[in-house]
Amino acid sequence: MEFRKDLTHLGWEEVRNRQKKRLPLVEEWARIAGIEEGITLLDIGSGPGVFLDAYSERIGEQGRVIALEKSMEAVQSYLRHSNRANVKVVCWDAEQPYPEDLRDIDVITLTDVLHHADSIQAILRNVHALASANTRILISEFDPDAEGRIGPPLAHRISMGELRSVAATQGFEGIGEGKQDFEHYFLLLRRG
Ligand SMILES: C[S@@+](CC[C@H](N)C(=O)[O-])C[C@H]1O[C@@H](n2cnc3c(N)ncnc32)[C@H](O)[C@@H]1O
Repeated sequence: MEFRKDLTHLGWEEVRNRQKKRLPLVEEWARIAGIEEGITLLDIGSGPGVFLDAYSERIGEQGRVIALEKSMEAVQSYLRHSNRANVKVVCWDAEQPYPEDLRDIDVITLTDVLHHADSIQAILRNVHALASANTRILISEFDPDAEGRIGPPLAHRISMGELRSVAATQGFEGIGEGKQDFEHYFLLLRRG
């Protein structure tokens, strides 16, 4: 199966359709990471942004959803479909130092992003620099030990063990982990 990190083998409308099918994961991510009314959430690598709207609904007008997404086409795809007062999407490479006005983040989500990244280490280093002691960091990825009926080819997936070890190297402490539907697993981290 063809796979390109920049997703040009699929196109953003197809990525959007696939996100819609995986929407039930948001319920579980919300429970795991405490995505609730009034919080500030940073979503890294939001793609066409279907999950941003689901987060925005949960968080409500007292909270904020900020997204950093590397692809301008993905950002434009989101803006074509949505216009929510509590969502701000910034075209930004999360492997570069983050905008200075980003602060006081309660939850940082990295869902299905790291297998598209050029440097997982660079992203996690920046996330660590941004996180406070109370920030919960949720990583969710396709599981290389699953069947491979959906999602990227097994050879392009990152194992939970590998991510655990990169996260520990970057100074994170694991506070939760588990397998999920849709061939996913999650790691919940905080600053060590
Ligand atoms: C498969 S999509 C995942 C979208 C969404 N998070 C989800 O769970 O469905 C991966 C996204 O990560 C983005 N991405 C990859 N590397 C990135 C980086 N360094 N900074 C910001 N976004 C990045 C890609 O452009 C793509 O939109």
